[in-house]
Amino acid sequence: MCGIVGYVGKEQAAPILLDGLSRLEYRGYDSAGVAVYSGRDQGLNVHKAKGRLKVLSGLLDGGAAVEGTVGVGHTRWATHGAPSDENSHPQVSRSGKIAVVHNGIIENYGELKAFLQGQGVPFTSETDTEVVAHLVEYFQKDGADILTAVGRCLRRIEGAYALGIISADEPDRLIAVRKDSPLILGYGDGCTFLASDITAILRHTRRASYMDDGEAAVLTRDGIQCYDHLMQPIEKEICQVDWEIDAAEKGGYEHFMFKEIMEQPEALRRAVFPRIRNGEVFLEDFALSDEYIKSLRNIHIVACGSSYHVGMVGKYNLEKMLRLPVEVTLGSEFRYMDPIVDEKTLVIVISQSGETLDTMAALREARRRGASILSIVNVVGSSIARESDQVLYTWAGPEIAVATTKAYTTQLAVLDLLGLYMSRVLGSMPAEERRAVLEDFKTLPEKLEKVLSCKDGVQYYASQYFNRDSVFYIGRNVDYALGLEGSLKLKEISYVHSEAYASGELKHGTISLIEEGSLVVALGTCLRLFDKAMSNIVEVKSRGGDVLALTTESRAAEMAKTANGVIAIPDAHPMLLPLLGVAPLQLFAYYAALMRGCDIDKPRNLAKSVTVE
Ligand code: F6R
Repeated sequence: MCGIVGYVGKEQAAPILLDGLSRLEYRGYDSAGVAVYSGRDQGLNVHKAKGRLKVLSGLLDGGAAVEGTVGVGHTRWATHGAPSDENSHPQVSRSGKIAVVHNGIIENYGELKAFLQGQGVPFTSETDTEVVAHLVEYFQKDGADILTAVGRCLRRIEGAYALGIISADEPDRLIAVRKDSPLILGYGDGCTFLASDITAILRHTRRASYMDDGEAAVLTRDGIQCYDHLMQPIEKEICQVDWEIDAAEKGGYEHFMFKEIMEQPEALRRAVFPRIRNGEVFLEDFALSDEYIKSLRNIHIVACGSSYHVGMVGKYNLEKMLRLPVEVTLGSEFRYMDPIVDEKTLVIVISQSGETLDTMAALREARRRGASILSIVNVVGSSIARESDQVLYTWAGPEIAVATTKAYTTQLAVLDLLGLYMSRVLGSMPAEERRAVLEDFKTLPEKLEKVLSCKDGVQYYASQYFNRDSVFYIGRNVDYALGLEGSLKLKEISYVHSEAYASGELKHGTISLIEEGSLVVALGTCLRLFDKAMSNIVEVKSRGGDVLALTTESRAAEMAKTANGVIAIPDAHPMLLPLLGVAPLQLFAYYAALMRGCDIDKPRNLAKSVTVE
């Protein structure tokens, strides 16, 4: 998705903007641009280029070619208008004096464009953003200052937006406004920053404020003044961001995705260990009372993509632990259904970025229906975290690769811990079993290290199968949910067509797809259903398919008698096996994509944080 960086200070702005934009490349984009105020003679210097940031950076000699100490930069992920130099941001007003960068969508831009065209304003791009630049200028006709004009503009525009605006007439300030699209303010020494994602400015400052919906801010070298939706001055809390800069760097690895896969044992330690004390689960600042938990009639999990797959595993595990009905719904579907959600429903929202628009919309709909919202989020201070009644952070650290890995594992671990906590309150699970799971939980990071140390074996299987046209993932129960994630990982980064099926569904139609040369990844970690998994493997093999199987060490030899290849993970409590089983699937997708020469960290058409519907 689009990225925004802004800087007001004493240093040359363009190199800072380009560096900040490079930290946002992981989010996915198709063009980039900067606007810098270069003094009275030159005014705003605007440079834009379709394609990778290095194209723009090359044109500007890494930014050295552009004078000026105030500016905004943008990486664009096309929504309105194809990727092109003209459609890239910043978009500029007719006089060239106002430059705007924008994340989100101005929904009523058509009507505004018609109005402005009626006023004789010529448009040079197909973007919705261009209307903002012209509209701000239009509202300055009576000599209004930039902040007043932006305020007037906000009353006319509808949709989602994070905006960074500079004006050649007031060149010592940068205006920021936010509605339904994240924006962060950074406080440096003699300088201030604007960013849509904290990683863009982490090299310069760790002191940040998170803008709320409807707020505006004026950034100058000396500080930042924030305003509420009525343009009344407000004070914002300044937080200390504790993410390590190194965590957002590749640190010698070829790809972020591989680094993040390998970081999983450590991420699990961070997510789990502080939350197990004296043999019980301890959840920080947990505000859901025992009475409330006992009053619950159902649980509804909402999320998108891999986070949704976490919810799918969670459904099996939570229902087992809590004996409460658990429904899992895609964020993009939730608000268009008529979900059975009220004050007796706990809605669990799962999101790595905390900014996914569909998930956020579901959260708001659930709140409107009276439910309590508990979110499991990675990015501290993100919109979903801030709008929830209760947040459990995953503490996975920055996740840069578009394909999620360590966020998936930590989300799942936190969801399991939540289930264990609630099962104690509800008395729905024998205490000995709960303690046994918790004991096993503590051994997971080490077991995961063991799984990852066998990566060469997975690489070998990837080398055997990376050029297959179609791959099917099958499994039952949590193995089915795990298959959904394995399949998504493979297709999103290697572009190999893949599907996941509940094994029992094969005979209801999908087995017709199995033929000579099909690869089926058979997941058989759920040992109570092991025999069923074996039967499905036989079914596939007898139709000419190849089977790569995943099971635990205790059953690997048995599976190897039938499957073409077997990947084994250590035995653990059945509820925890998906936390180990997902790693080989991630590695398989990674190596397959590597062998197919794909852009692993930035797969085509995808974005890290999906802030449009
Ligand atoms: C897949 C992936 C996506 C995200 C989805 C939700 O590897 O990363 O499917 O899981 O876009 O994102 P978050 O968790 O940020 O809400």
